[in-house]
Parts: sequence; structure tokens; C-alpha cells
Amino acid sequence: MHWFRNVVFAALIMALHVPGTGQAAELDGDAGEAIARLHCARCHVVPDYNRMGIGSTPSFKAMVRSAAKDWRHKFEAFYTLPPHGNFVRIKEYRQIRQTPSAVAPIVLGLDDLDHLMVYVDRLAAELRKP
Ligand code: HEC
Repeated sequence: MHWFRNVVFAALIMALHVPGTGQAAELDGDAGEAIARLHCARCHVVPDYNRMGIGSTPSFKAMVRSAAKDWRHKFEAFYTLPPHGNFVRIKEYRQIRQTPSAVAPIVLGLDDLDHLMVYVDRLAAELRKP
């Protein structure tokens, strides 16, 4: 249940972090797409970019089209959900690792997470069935 505590923690932090205020950069779906291509496509299939991912890894298309109502929350908290907790670090958060990262780490800022969500929402608008 360790990951669940992290999700609750992340939700609290995200509630405090209001996008579009302070020194947060403009929301940019293209920047989010670039992040997905650079980092997520290592394992996930990202639309219009790579055709092959790692077998057990859900494609972005399948995820944004998911019938489950929590798909968007999963994107918001992905860095706390397995397997990402082991190799994704958010610059603004202090995270304590239980185990060393098995793959090259991904380091993102909160602004990167905002851009990713704009991109994911754009994908969902294109790909989700009404
Ligand atoms: C090293 C491989 C790897 C990388 C890199 C990676 N993921 Fe994943 N991701 C996975 C795997 C494997 C799963 C499936 C986990 C499962 O089904 O339990 C997953 C699942 C997810 C899920 C669904 C989580 C759930 O519990 O249903 C989201 C959302 C997600 N990834 C977002 C991202 C984003 C955004 C990035 C890039 C910033 C990224 N991932 C990078 C391997 C990766």
C-alpha cells in the first residue's frame, strides 16, 4: 500500500499547485507531446511517433480511450504508480527511493506534468469515442 500513500500525497500536492499561477509556464500541449515522445515512448506506444513499445505496457491511445473513469487521474499521478515510482523523479518533490532505479531516470518538473496533461487531454479529445 506504499504506492497508495504516495498517490494521496501527490493529490494533496497537486491540489496546492494551481496551474497557470505563479511562475508556471504557459500550458503547452506540443511541449507535452515532446515529453511523451522523449520519455514515455521508451516503453509506451505514443500516437504518431512509435509503433512498438514494451509488450506489457499500455499504449497512450488505449489509455486515453479507456472506459475506466480513472484514466485521467492515472495520468496525473503516473509517477506514483508502478513501475514509474522507481525511475521518475519530480524536481519539486522530495522522494525517497526504496530501491535503486533499474532504468535510466526521467526527471520532470511540475510544469512538464501540466504540459503532459494538456497533451493527454488533446489526445483524448481526438481519440475517445463519444
Ligand atoms: C520503463 C518503461 C516505462 C516508461 C519510460 C514509462 N512508463 Fe508508463 N507504464 C509502464 C508500464 C509497464 C505500465 C503498466 C503498469 C501496470 O499495468 O501495472 C505503465 C502504465 C502507465 C499508466 C497507467 C497506470 C496504471 O496504473 O494504470 C500511465 C498513466 C503511464 N504509464 C504514464 C506514463 C507517462 C506519462 C510516461 C512518460 C513521462 C511513462 N508512463 C513512462 C512503463 C513505463
